[in-house]
Amino acid sequence: MNILGIESSCDDTSIAIVNDKRQILAHATLSQTKAHIPYGGVVPEIAARAHGEALEPLLQSVLQQSGLTFNDMDAFVATAGPGLIGGVMVGTVAAKTLAAAFNKPYIGINHLEGHALTVRLTDQVPFPYLLLLVSGGHTQLICVEDLGVYSVLGTTHDDAVGEAFDKTAKVLGLGYPGGPQLETLARLGNPGIFILPQPLQRDPGCHFSFSGLKTAVKRLVDQQPDLNDQTRADIARCFQDTVATFLSSRSERAMKLFKDRFGKAAHFVCAGGVASNLSLRQALEQTAQKEGFTFCAPPLHLCTDNGAMIAWAGLERLQRGLVSDLTLKPRPRWPLNAI
Ligand code: KG4
Ligand code: ZN
Repeated sequence: MNILGIESSCDDTSIAIVNDKRQILAHATLSQTKAHIPYGGVVPEIAARAHGEALEPLLQSVLQQSGLTFNDMDAFVATAGPGLIGGVMVGTVAAKTLAAAFNKPYIGINHLEGHALTVRLTDQVPFPYLLLLVSGGHTQLICVEDLGVYSVLGTTHDDAVGEAFDKTAKVLGLGYPGGPQLETLARLGNPGIFILPQPLQRDPGCHFSFSGLKTAVKRLVDQQPDLNDQTRADIARCFQDTVATFLSSRSERAMKLFKDRFGKAAHFVCAGGVASNLSLRQALEQTAQKEGFTFCAPPLHLCTDNGAMIAWAGLERLQRGLVSDLTLKPRPRWPLNAI
């Protein structure tokens, strides 16, 4: 079974072909980062146009890499939401057109399901498992019970954790996209120089909040008489450590709930762009070990948005006979538990 998947919900156009032997036969990505740098964030119109321009060369590239033709595909798959609607429309129209032209099924994938299932492409992770989904738009703790069966244990009241990384990076004078640059700067920082408040300390649940932390960092930066390179690095380190502690403590609670519900520990998976943060992965792995869970996260290049995760989710759906109608509309908002 060969599946072609298209991801175009944010600022990367990415196309991949995966097969049912868990092989990524081809993978090609065009990043739009340079086009958005002058604006300090993703501009939807620029993104949509760039996705349109990237599709054709990327499709040619994955066919060339795999040595396959469109006729060798068993389904054409695209992210159908949530995300920037212009980009999502470009990707879904392309996949629907290919499906219609080559008389193959079309499958519209929830982008979050793509992140949630990536780990099953790269590792043997059976259902059910506990997922911490951390991206630019989402921060959620989810029981992945089965394909399409997702129960959300906790979500964010305000900003997503990726957004908090990006905004903190901006306050520290780093460029866009901020998350990876903040991680690099934090490596030069010393622990314990500054203290930031732990969010939601009196809230016993599994929910998240990052807006207070974001304001606290801004205040801390403004208070510095000399914001030299070392101070900036120490603040970056403090922010990253605070986030890691917060995410770990919420995940620990979710692990206890998971054990209550399923009677035993299982895999604890971290996915989404922020899962490429190595210091966060380390903290989460320690928490998982403490609670008897097996920690697992996709390889770094499959944490941020990519076509392989969309193709893989499509493959899992096709194997269960779950295909989409060509009338399926792209959705800018689409909660994972509404699949
Ligand atoms: O999953 P993703 O590629 O796109 C969304 O679906 O949102 O996640 C992008 C987010 C951005 O906020 C980016 O700054 C963050 O992931 N990110 C990181 C790192 N790499 C990407 N945050 C912290 N540390 C990183 N190494
Ligand atoms: Zn994503």
